[in-house]
Amino acid sequence: MKKVYLVGFMGSGKSAVGKRLTPLVNMPFYDMDAEIVKMIGMTIPQIFETYGEEGFRDIETEFLKTFPDEYCIIATGGGVPMRAENRELMKSSGLVFYLNSTFRDIWRRVSTDPNRPIVQKSTREELEILFNKRKAYYMESAHFKVETTNRSLHEISQYVA
Ligand code: S3P
Repeated sequence: MKKVYLVGFMGSGKSAVGKRLTPLVNMPFYDMDAEIVKMIGMTIPQIFETYGEEGFRDIETEFLKTFPDEYCIIATGGGVPMRAENRELMKSSGLVFYLNSTFRDIWRRVSTDPNRPIVQKSTREELEILFNKRKAYYMESAHFKVETTNRSLHEISQYVA
């Protein structure tokens, strides 16, 4: 196995599961957003503000192409599987797990987060439309779909491991 990618909508638990998974599979964990913040030296809202959403998406693609660690777990940003190129880059370099949640759970977790520009600019209804639209892309990008509703972080990580 090479890389393990966790994909899914914002607030689906990618980072929390990734951190739990690290000792189980003995691979280092990286949060893609956190790595991008370090790389660019700006927060995610500042990157959106300065380069626009497309600019941010280009940075995500660049990250997938150049990230040097071969064997690791990566919690991807929720918009990564939207690009065909990104889906291809992930599938060809590792195993991809789609963490699926209900929109209700997602909204509860992200609605007040000031660090997610997509949430900031959307109403609840708009975000739910985006959530439904993205499902097909998550499915297309992943080798495995993992249901997270009513499951503890421990159960989800054990399953992925
Ligand atoms: C985004 C998800 C965020 C982050 C950015 C855009 C999206 O990552 O990359 O705010 O378009 O869904 P998380 O999924 O880790 O919140």
